[in-house]
Amino acid sequence: MGARKLGLGSSAAVAASVIGYHLTAAGLDPFDPQVREDALSLALAAHAEAQGGGGSGADVAAAVLGGLLRFQDRKTRAVAMPQWAHIGFVDAGAPAVTSRFVAQVKAAAVERPGPYADAMGLLTGAVDQFLTAFRDSPDPAKSLAGVREATRRHNEGLRALATMSGAPIMTDAIERIIAEAEVDGLAAKPSGAGGGDLVVVFAASRADLDRFGERLHREHKMALLSDLKVADRGIRAEDRIPPNPRLSGFFKLDIQARRQAVAEATGLDMARLSDLDVGALDMHRANHMIENVVGTLELPLAIATNFRINGRDFLVPMCVEEASVVAAASNAAKMIRAGGGFSAHNDAPWMIAQVQLIAAGDSFDAQAAAASVLEHKDELLVMADGAHPRLVERGGGARDIEVRVVDPAMVVVHILVDCRDAMGANLLNTVAETVAPRLEALTKWTAGLRILSNLSDRRCSHISARIPPDALKAEGFSGSEVVDRIVSASRFAELDPYRATTHNKGIMNGVDAVVLATGNDWRAMEASAHAFAATRGANGGYGPLAVWRKGEDGWLEGSMSLPTAVGIVGGATRVHPVARLALRIIGCTSGHELGQVIAAAGLASNLAACRALATEGIQRGHMSLHARSVALGAGAEADEVERLAAALVADGEIKAERATALLAKLRAAGGGGSKEPSAG
Ligand code: MEV
Repeated sequence: MGARKLGLGSSAAVAASVIGYHLTAAGLDPFDPQVREDALSLALAAHAEAQGGGGSGADVAAAVLGGLLRFQDRKTRAVAMPQWAHIGFVDAGAPAVTSRFVAQVKAAAVERPGPYADAMGLLTGAVDQFLTAFRDSPDPAKSLAGVREATRRHNEGLRALATMSGAPIMTDAIERIIAEAEVDGLAAKPSGAGGGDLVVVFAASRADLDRFGERLHREHKMALLSDLKVADRGIRAEDRIPPNPRLSGFFKLDIQARRQAVAEATGLDMARLSDLDVGALDMHRANHMIENVVGTLELPLAIATNFRINGRDFLVPMCVEEASVVAAASNAAKMIRAGGGFSAHNDAPWMIAQVQLIAAGDSFDAQAAAASVLEHKDELLVMADGAHPRLVERGGGARDIEVRVVDPAMVVVHILVDCRDAMGANLLNTVAETVAPRLEALTKWTAGLRILSNLSDRRCSHISARIPPDALKAEGFSGSEVVDRIVSASRFAELDPYRATTHNKGIMNGVDAVVLATGNDWRAMEASAHAFAATRGANGGYGPLAVWRKGEDGWLEGSMSLPTAVGIVGGATRVHPVARLALRIIGCTSGHELGQVIAAAGLASNLAACRALATEGIQRGHMSLHARSVALGAGAEADEVERLAAALVADGEIKAERATALLAKLRAAGGGGSKEPSAG
């Protein structure tokens, strides 16, 4: 994550995938059990050789075989994942060096064998207890209680090891996460040897886990990492290669060559890219999307390069009419890449359906109305789920009910719904309409509006980046000067809503361009972002979505939380061929991953704008790009565009009349354009 190494077993994964690659290339089936077994012994040997023999090998077994494994004395046994169990991981904020802990504990064990034996007794007892509880059962609550007992004992064992050895196994962050999980009735323990990386949390429902993650982030700014899956598939051949987002010199290519590069980088069939041709949205389809159709509006679609998020590379399609947005985002993504790329995590995809309740008659009691709704919370949640059985099948559904008394005569009921990979507007509206009659019956108040809230503050993507000063150097400014100037630009936006609005407009340059390219609802995105920004200023008013600080090591650190109510299923994402293709180019497999890409485009755009504004100003760069569109407007074709744009910049007057005159001159001089497409 950024410059930080998370202990997720990446060296084991590398060993597994290299071995898997060679076995597959030799014509062997990576799903054949014998091939998997061979792959495991090869990967274990390779990993041990590379790491000098340390480590249990459990991580290698997990990477090769996948699934849920019991690993004991170097022997691996597949275990069934209990139906009831939901597992999440919380980032405990610091990299842990397991080998150092092991050495410390081993040394202490020699000197203090008694306390060591006691600690190990607790740990082995915890394992037995865990194995008894962590299996399918008709009573998930009882099983979870068993797992809680086991993790408590395990944590006691780790504390005892920490005390006897002095190794910082149970950090403050780990203890806080464990304590908070206790409050919510969940089980938690450090993953692996503790020290900071991750805490694993067990729940009996996805909803409980998400609720915990939401609260942890709100109250402690700690992240439940929704991207981490358990019991994944082990070695396999992916149906698409990871893209190479560097595409150096991409901007110099012509359109056909750029398509070729995108096809190569993503593994997409070149024929698929013909969906980007003019007219891909045919009249028939357009006519069925909205009413009174008379045509379509074309906008340029471009690819932003260099994006790396949580160690994964992305090509980012952007649809926008403003010159320089795509170049700026790509350029800033390259600087961010120099610091390890973006780090991102997400809230669970919860949205709010609102039902307005209005007092009926002269005598009413808002608190009593609110209480009667809350008393029937469980029934209302079941009713809301009944409106969307397919959503429940996909792992989503109603999660919570909140009641707000906004006026003595007006109560608002919020039904929080996990929308999974859909934006969710339609399903939320159905939920609101479904439960409203029951709310009327419970409260004897009258239901007014029944509609989603577009303030998607429970569904944020949280993104951050760290950039080395060297990567920020600009003409006439050292890297560290640029860092200071960007921090000051951020402060300006934090203190002044007039600046914050423009700062956020720059963020939305990147955000909206991806939202539009992927067929999502950019009005919802805009409404939500600005409502969210309304309390972010230093004085509690409207403020910047993204802020920049200088880290202790002098690096620039930027972070942003952005509501991202976007989906990869339903709506225009299904109907519009370009939106479908854009999603394929990004290669995201979930709505929240798309949210992270969108937030990254926003943060990159903001960095580019702040850096330019804090150094030479944006006009010089903007003008040459602006000159191109003026040249196009004047009728320049093919390579005339670049030549005319250069002439306009040199002339210092980038205006339509001047462009027409200069184009005529250019043509009269016999320098008409070739019919090759423009390199622009
Ligand atoms: C222009 O589209 C966006 C900027 O004004 C953003 C900003 O001022 O931060 C450059």
